[in-house]
Amino acid sequence: PRSTTPLAHDDLAVGGVPLTELADRFGTPAYVLDEDEVRHRCRAYLRAFPEADVLYAAKAFLCRAMVHWVQEEGLGLDVCSAGELELAVTTGFAPERIVLHGNAKSPDDLRTALRLGVGRIVIDSTSEIARLAAAVPAGARQKVLIRVVPGIAAGGHAKIRTGTDDQKFGLSIADGSALHAITRVLGQPRLELVGLHCHLGSQITTVKPYLSAVRRLVGLLARIHEQHGVTLPELDLGGGHGVGYRPGEPALDIACLGTRIRAELTGSCAAAGLPVPRLAVEPGRAIAGPAGVALYRVLSVKQTGSHTFVAVDGGMSDNPRPALYGVRYAPRLIGRRSAAAPEPVTVVGRHCEAGDVLASDVPLPGDIRPGDLIGVPVAGAYHLSMASGYNLVGRPPVVAVTDGQARLLVRRESLADIQERDIGL
Ligand code: LLP
Repeated sequence: PRSTTPLAHDDLAVGGVPLTELADRFGTPAYVLDEDEVRHRCRAYLRAFPEADVLYAAKAFLCRAMVHWVQEEGLGLDVCSAGELELAVTTGFAPERIVLHGNAKSPDDLRTALRLGVGRIVIDSTSEIARLAAAVPAGARQKVLIRVVPGIAAGGHAKIRTGTDDQKFGLSIADGSALHAITRVLGQPRLELVGLHCHLGSQITTVKPYLSAVRRLVGLLARIHEQHGVTLPELDLGGGHGVGYRPGEPALDIACLGTRIRAELTGSCAAAGLPVPRLAVEPGRAIAGPAGVALYRVLSVKQTGSHTFVAVDGGMSDNPRPALYGVRYAPRLIGRRSAAAPEPVTVVGRHCEAGDVLASDVPLPGDIRPGDLIGVPVAGAYHLSMASGYNLVGRPPVVAVTDGQARLLVRRESLADIQERDIGL
């Protein structure tokens, strides 16, 4: 993938369409998605992992158009709810190319997965084994993976680290619960154990943790072979590939990741006397994130003793990430060139709390004023998918841009939409 963001070269346009035009036509706030960039990133993954299944992690961003793009580019899909699964399958995505995750799958998640014929279900806890087996119809067999915890600390923030034993996901290799669960699954005639899964965390920018994970998982494959005489054919290494949110911030080098994982996997398997399993990876952010820009209109500029607050028409309901993880973004003035020197400002949202800050101490032209447009790059992943209904402002629309043309993918949530769900007294 390109290391630059869509706004790095040009503050005026995405995909050949001026952002001012998009703001006038679709209103603000809005998420703008560069379709070519999404497709380009999918292709870069297929080049980096030619022998693997690349499964797009739907939680990063999902809508019907995205389902089409990912399918057309030849990727599979990782989903974690009946909602994501239904949207994908009813849009025409092949269910056998979908993997279902979740540390607490609801009865509806499992029923939907079995009814739609999902390709793999990833078992996350011992208690799930019997529950899933009981839901599989007589005579059928469901392919499953077991999510294991390799004991590796990696990831951009404590809230998105999942490779260590002290969090809610997966079954620990270290304390023996992974092997115990594997034995149980092998004893279930309605479940077909095809491999292991792990996900280390998110926003990882170095290759090393993935190589450690390969070694530990191959070690576990060897023990399974030893104890049960079973050779598992699949290894899913999850996602978590980091992107830069500000110019100059490191991103994980996907081509390098692919090459190094392949070498490590081949070497570790040879040393263990095992055949090389089929690899899967599950990138979400690295495909959708850099392809998106969040577009806002400035509503007020306020000078206090020590700060300049630039308030925009969105905020923590369309981007909770600064408040949740302390992520730092690089907002930019869009649509007009300013000769004014940059000055440090704090970009805040419209919501009724002081923590509604999109970016603190970022440079914007000193003449920034109400009516200006602000773009926040790298807004394609975990923005709309994490948007909330706070203050009943309605979630922003998603606009796709390609070849100089813009089209609406997801319309703005209207006040009528919101009120319709409230059935009254
Ligand atoms: N596979 C599994 C099993 C996952 O749990 C996740 C993300 C992924 C793949 C994709 O990870 P990615 O490549 O997108 O990093 N809301 C947080 C991120 C949470 C990620 C949860 N799981 C954020 O905004 O940073």
